[in-house]
Amino acid sequence: MERVETAEDLREWVACRRRAGERIALVPTMGNLHAGHLALVDRARTLAERVVVSVFVNPTQFSAGEDFAIYPRTPEADCAALAAQGADLAFLPTVAVMYPAGLPGAVHVEVSGALTEGLCGASRPGHFSGVATVVTKLFILVQPDVAVFGKKDYQQLAVIRAVVRELGLPVRIEGMETWRDTDGLALSSRNQYLDPAQRARAGAIHAALTEGAAALTAGERDYAVLEAQATARLVAAGFAVDYARIVRPEDLQAPTGQENRLVMLVAARLGSTRLIDNIEVKLSE
Ligand code: PAJ
Repeated sequence: MERVETAEDLREWVACRRRAGERIALVPTMGNLHAGHLALVDRARTLAERVVVSVFVNPTQFSAGEDFAIYPRTPEADCAALAAQGADLAFLPTVAVMYPAGLPGAVHVEVSGALTEGLCGASRPGHFSGVATVVTKLFILVQPDVAVFGKKDYQQLAVIRAVVRELGLPVRIEGMETWRDTDGLALSSRNQYLDPAQRARAGAIHAALTEGAAALTAGERDYAVLEAQATARLVAAGFAVDYARIVRPEDLQAPTGQENRLVMLVAARLGSTRLIDNIEVKLSE
């Protein structure tokens, strides 16, 4: 596996691969890679001849007071894991490479409207603008044929699909199922902030989502009641609940009753650690 840090070296590598007629898959990450990230790399390898993985802790997607300064940075271990997983190129840019004009950046990609106003957008101002901006920059730099993202960050995936659609970017977006620990907790770099007592209770998120999904499958349609039940269950497990919502998968808006598929999303804090997860539900009727 090769490793580059500048836009010039990246462009040269990409041009070389393109001349050889090879397709490129991109997996954007913030590093500190776990099995969920590596599963994205595996999927990427089935979609193109070459796999590029970016590792960049993007400052513009962290709101004031969030964990940017302490976000775990493990580039050497990440590169070793990526090489073992069969990635072809690791791209580890500096802030100056991604934001040549300095922070907060001179050009921003803003996805306005309901998609970014609710759920995580409500409590993380600027977050999705930071994500949309850095992912758009990565798409322009790498020019991938396809890019792979996890469904764990469900709203993020929807925002990225909206950017691609709205800007007409020539990249296919692939969404991957969420990788979980044995108690159902979605793998996340932030799980390591949890102390042992918190970690023991963190499986309640997946349990609450599974319970909500089972009720929906069984025909329950009082979404407010299901949201309140999930919230109560999480509060009982010691969480401060940011939201527990049942929405439409396409636009993350309230269901009208006509849907065949729904998604239930949760964001909740254990101490200062904010965790998110979701479950997709196919309705029987
Ligand atoms: P990061 O949190 O490092 O996640 C990188 C990718 O891995 C995202 O697409 C995310 O959804 C996916 N992922 C994380 N945990 C996962 C799990 N347990 N199972 C499956 N996929 C998982 O998301 C970001 O970085 C950033 O916002 C980024 C898109 C890189 C832009 O900076």
